Amino acid sequence: MTKKTTRAAAVLAGALTSVAVADLVQPRHSILRNYPVAGYARFLMEKIRPEIQQYFIERNFDGEPFDRNTRTMIYRRAKGKDDHVAFGTERDLGAVGYETLVQSLAPVQPADTDLRVTVGGPDCTRPYSASRFNISAMSFGALSANAVLAMNRGAAEGHFLHDTGEGGLTRYHLRYGADLIWELGSGYFSARTADGRLDREKFVANATRGQVKMIEIKLSQGAKPGIGGVLPKEKITAEVSGIRGVPRDRDCVSPSAHPEFSTPRELVRFVTELRELSGGKPVGIKLCVGDRTQFLALCRAMVEEGTGPDFITVDGAEGGTGSAPLEFQDRLGMRLTEGLMTVENALVATGLRDRVTVGASGKIAGGADIVRRLLQGADIMFAARPMMMAVGCIQAQKCNTGRCPVGVATQDPVRQRAVDVDDKGPRVRRYHDATVKEAVALMAAMGASSPAELTHDMGRIVLGPDETRSYADAYRWLTPGELLEPSTDTPADWVRDWERADADSFRV
Ligand SMILES: Cc1cc2nc3c(=O)[nH]c(=O)nc-3n(C[C@H](O)[C@H](O)[C@H](O)COP(=O)(O)O)c2cc1C
Ligand code: SF4
Repeated sequence: MTKKTTRAAAVLAGALTSVAVADLVQPRHSILRNYPVAGYARFLMEKIRPEIQQYFIERNFDGEPFDRNTRTMIYRRAKGKDDHVAFGTERDLGAVGYETLVQSLAPVQPADTDLRVTVGGPDCTRPYSASRFNISAMSFGALSANAVLAMNRGAAEGHFLHDTGEGGLTRYHLRYGADLIWELGSGYFSARTADGRLDREKFVANATRGQVKMIEIKLSQGAKPGIGGVLPKEKITAEVSGIRGVPRDRDCVSPSAHPEFSTPRELVRFVTELRELSGGKPVGIKLCVGDRTQFLALCRAMVEEGTGPDFITVDGAEGGTGSAPLEFQDRLGMRLTEGLMTVENALVATGLRDRVTVGASGKIAGGADIVRRLLQGADIMFAARPMMMAVGCIQAQKCNTGRCPVGVATQDPVRQRAVDVDDKGPRVRRYHDATVKEAVALMAAMGASSPAELTHDMGRIVLGPDETRSYADAYRWLTPGELLEPSTDTPADWVRDWERADADSFRV
């Protein structure tokens, strides 16, 4: 051993000894007190665990929230590459809960249509013709400026909706001219008075912009129902703080409930007021369904007031978020299938279905998801995380830290350079177009030229090892107006909940 190496070894040994002594006496990490120095290996493994899981352990079909097959499909469609796969399905087609679509022995030619649907009930004077597949609400703040710009550009090129999210209507949403849903959460950002109420003048100024096609009042979101929007302070830059009018030294937490209304009837009247202030544009609500009676209370208020939201977007409990407590993500709210069917049944049975467009969000990533949700009662679909993937998200799940490795969910100017708007904008458009095309192709294979031709017989669900049923047979679908004049056949639990529903209280 040379003198130099001996000296280096001595320095290293000295450094390790100092670290070991510091580890032994420090009070915070038990593992280091018992395993000085060596304990750091555990921290390292914990840190790279998600990457090891994703790159080496996860199979094509079991990654969560989106499996590798789905992610690859999105990336390939976004890049305009061939998205076909070889050799047959890897899924367990017999797994309980697995859902399939029913093909026809008389398939039709895929219709030359992009499946648009008109949103706007009888009180709306400026209905909007919407794509069936759109960008779900995600705020500037949760997303980087470049991610918002790329989505806005994609939506403008592909003529579909870009939902602003509750963080306000910003210059990034206006940059490329995409049609917008302006979302108002309980913080009313971009139309907020100093004491947190809705500023009517500011509302009119934004709602009457030509680019704003629809307005959405956010009641709740599947990943965190019951709490308002949360933006961690790590992501509150001077610009975000200016847009929202909030301080930078603490998380930005919107109130759980809207200060402008507290009962179903007040909500319906608020919708009417916003529709009038906007000049007759469609005004809707977004919610994750919880208690069925509460939703029926809203229906009762609509029946009694003779008006209501033009659209209702149902977000499934499986939905995503930029930041929310684990317990809220895991244990609150109805998943999309149950939420959608509840809303569909409630609107049909109270005679309101014809005046409301039903939206759906929650892991809608491919054409089959669109068709499945159409069958379950939705008219219009929204995607958030799949659109993030189209602009480069790799599902690293660090959106709340401000350290998104690909610049999608961060305010760090260096990191967000990774999102090249000229490249990623067209990706969003290509992903949208290919997915809608696939939905049309699937419907054609099912013998349907349009969503109007879909029936509940065309979806099947696995109920047990030897049992599958159509949606028509597996679920009880209420008939038009059934709750208004129940018969002995009407399910007793629905009748009970309808009787309990009070237009003047959300409390059950
Ligand atoms: C980063 C991020 C930010 C979001 N911000 C909002 C928001 O501001 N308002 C809202 O209503 N939903 C918000 N959501 C929920 C989505 O709009 C959507 O309802 C949910 O993620 C389900 O869709 P997905 O499965 O396609 O992601 C956000 C989701 C993500 C991932
Ligand atoms: S890459 Fe990770 S941190 Fe960035 S947006 Fe996707 S999930 Fe969030």
